[in-house]
Amino acid sequence: MPPLLNRRDFLLTAGTSAALLPMHHIFADTLAEELTAPTTRPDWERLKQAFILDQDTTYMNVGTTGSMPKHVLAAFGHDNRLIARNPRDRLGNTSGRLEYARGRLASSFGCGADEIVISGNTTYGLTLTLNGLTLEAGDVILTTDQEHPGLLAPLQLLADRKAIEVIKVPLPAGENQTPDDYTERFRQAILAYGERVKLIAFSAPTFTTGTMLPIRSLVDLLVDTYNEYGWPIHSLVDGAHATGMFDLDLNALGIDFFCGAGHKWQCGPGGTGIWYLRNQVSDNNPIPLPRFYPTVSDYYREDRTPPAPNGERGEYDIGNFLQPHGNPNYPAAMALTNVCDFWRQIGRDNIERYAVHGLGLQMKQRITEYWGDESLYSPSKHSTLLSALTTFTPFTRNRDDKDISDLFVSKLYDDYGYIVRNTATPITHRGVTETEYPIRISTHLFHDAKDVQGVFDAMKDLSERFEHGVVAETPTLVSHESDG
Ligand SMILES: Cc1ncc(COP(=O)(O)O)c(C=O)c1O
Repeated sequence: MPPLLNRRDFLLTAGTSAALLPMHHIFADTLAEELTAPTTRPDWERLKQAFILDQDTTYMNVGTTGSMPKHVLAAFGHDNRLIARNPRDRLGNTSGRLEYARGRLASSFGCGADEIVISGNTTYGLTLTLNGLTLEAGDVILTTDQEHPGLLAPLQLLADRKAIEVIKVPLPAGENQTPDDYTERFRQAILAYGERVKLIAFSAPTFTTGTMLPIRSLVDLLVDTYNEYGWPIHSLVDGAHATGMFDLDLNALGIDFFCGAGHKWQCGPGGTGIWYLRNQVSDNNPIPLPRFYPTVSDYYREDRTPPAPNGERGEYDIGNFLQPHGNPNYPAAMALTNVCDFWRQIGRDNIERYAVHGLGLQMKQRITEYWGDESLYSPSKHSTLLSALTTFTPFTRNRDDKDISDLFVSKLYDDYGYIVRNTATPITHRGVTETEYPIRISTHLFHDAKDVQGVFDAMKDLSERFEHGVVAETPTLVSHESDG
């Protein structure tokens, strides 16, 4: 029982809390119980039945947004109805309930409850992180050339409003990358800009090529830099795609800030995210914590100014300081917490093995067998760089032709029923950058080997039709400018 709930509160929470109720109370049958019994081999075939995805199509664009499991959706609707029926009674003690939810989320992500905030989405977390840091004109933030507008926009705002210099490190693309390629590029950039560098900010995985950047190696680079030169450089990870795809241990990774989506691979409701702020100095990361101010807050008053961390914050609960700001979307926060519990019960390590190292790798292998190594933008040879996103082009020419790529995506849906997307990916070759438009496929826990084979067969057939000029030339209007 959560500490801050009375009986009435409990009844509201119980409608959504998988941890407090036997699953069959919120599930139509015993499926959830069976599916989440501790096992190293979940029944993936049956797990599909936990989702209401349209059976007439195959949804392989989880990277843009996911799909809530049935029981989470039911409890979400139930909570919304309770609040609509009796708003007055239901508004009390939301901060107590959110504190309880944060505790449950912390155990899913390998960190303390004081280090977790339920954010609006990834973009909120990124924006609030960048605005909370005490950066000054002339400071440098290193980022990459593969970032999403959710990170690029707040970076550009800092550049325009505070004269922060934002440097984009060009990343490699293709199947043959190694983790050292990444650390080496950041090392060179840190040495070039020296102690002006205050932050590195990057996505892992990137939404463009689906590369999982080597987070721990990059943090090791920052720790080495601190030990050697005394420069405290902090780290911000845009993990929009990491939550729900990987078995994350945020403390062990040693990063300072992590912002992930609740609604993509984690399959929670829209407008939710996981925001992590490191709140301890340990062997995982001995670099002193940065001074940090809340940007959106109703907690910041004369007597509650956050202490400037002198290496550690001690008992200061930064998560609790940042969480309350006006009236929250309580049903959404609880739905996120419930779906995270569901993932934990299935086993986040099982999900990662299945979606990333199983189906994701199979997808990449099928593609290289047929279209060759050159067709892949995602790395496939180094397991730490793998993700459940696969990006490739079936075209040997015209890789920079957006219309052709858009047409491929829309035909794959119209003629074969597979829902994927394409991305605008900057590729730098010998100092020259061009934008290319790879196709991006997501493989997740509700897919199986038949889906991988099915989308591969469809793409093979479609690419042959393109080659023979059988596909109508008129591009359908599909715009993918900023959705993830
Ligand atoms: C890498 C990346 N960062 C940020 C975002 C924005 O995520 P959200 O919708 O959770 O703000 C996306 C996706 O849309 C993304 O792919």
